Amino acid sequence: MPKVGIFDSGLGGLLTARLLREKRPDISILYYGDTAHLPYGDKSSSQIRTYVRDIVRFLRAQGAEIIAIACNTASAVGYDTACEAAENIPVLSAIYPALNAFSELRFSEPVGVIGTYTTIRSGIYGRALKAMGYRVRELATPVLVPLIEEGWIEHPATAAAIHTYLSELGEVETLLLACTHYPLLQNQMQKYYTQVGMEVHIVSTAELLAEAVARAVGQEGTVHGESHFWVSDANPRFIELAKRFWGADIILEEAPAGTSTEYLPSQVLPVK
Ligand code: DGL
Repeated sequence: MPKVGIFDSGLGGLLTARLLREKRPDISILYYGDTAHLPYGDKSSSQIRTYVRDIVRFLRAQGAEIIAIACNTASAVGYDTACEAAENIPVLSAIYPALNAFSELRFSEPVGVIGTYTTIRSGIYGRALKAMGYRVRELATPVLVPLIEEGWIEHPATAAAIHTYLSELGEVETLLLACTHYPLLQNQMQKYYTQVGMEVHIVSTAELLAEAVARAVGQEGTVHGESHFWVSDANPRFIELAKRFWGADIILEEAPAGTSTEYLPSQVLPVK
């Protein structure tokens, strides 16, 4: 069955991989987390594009037949670069499945969009949603990623950050989580809205991208696929975080960053 190359700036994209695996156990997943360069959210667009190019080439070299960019930031500024590097294989970004859903279904408005500085600054969601006739409120919420990376899902500091950001975002009826990491805080955000007496429908790009990839690979096979996970920096600390996103034990292998074209499988180092 098809091999799907999924990548993210770090491990948050494992959630997209996991959703895909739940929908389509026959798919083989080749995952790359660019942990050496995380976060992408405060990097320049040109820097992010160089990472995207290398990662896509790496995943192609591993046999990926379709590429899914789980990272919203990389999707916002690196989609064209990914398509160039992918040459003849299709590339799905985190953004278009979400925009398709907003154009096909009518979500309640105002729509709130939260993501990294780079994603929000790119204006990619805001412009498209406004063109569809939605009232939109956008906000960069950069502090959430490090809190999640620290495993502080139910921590008071995270509750305070959610309170600060969502009250600043103001009145919305739909909230689009335009970042790979944020679905881990979905319950906390829902709790905030319940506390302040607001009914808000929360939508995640991870779920929509997983659905789009499952549709794109065609008919379901009977044989289970295999999953491989690479990171550009195999800090042992990442194992716990990876487990949280993937929902099961996981083996991360280190692939040297930026050397994808010379990469050989024998260079893979197991995480100690
Ligand atoms: N993966 C990024 C995204 O979805 C969030 C983390 C980062 O800043 O790299 O936008």
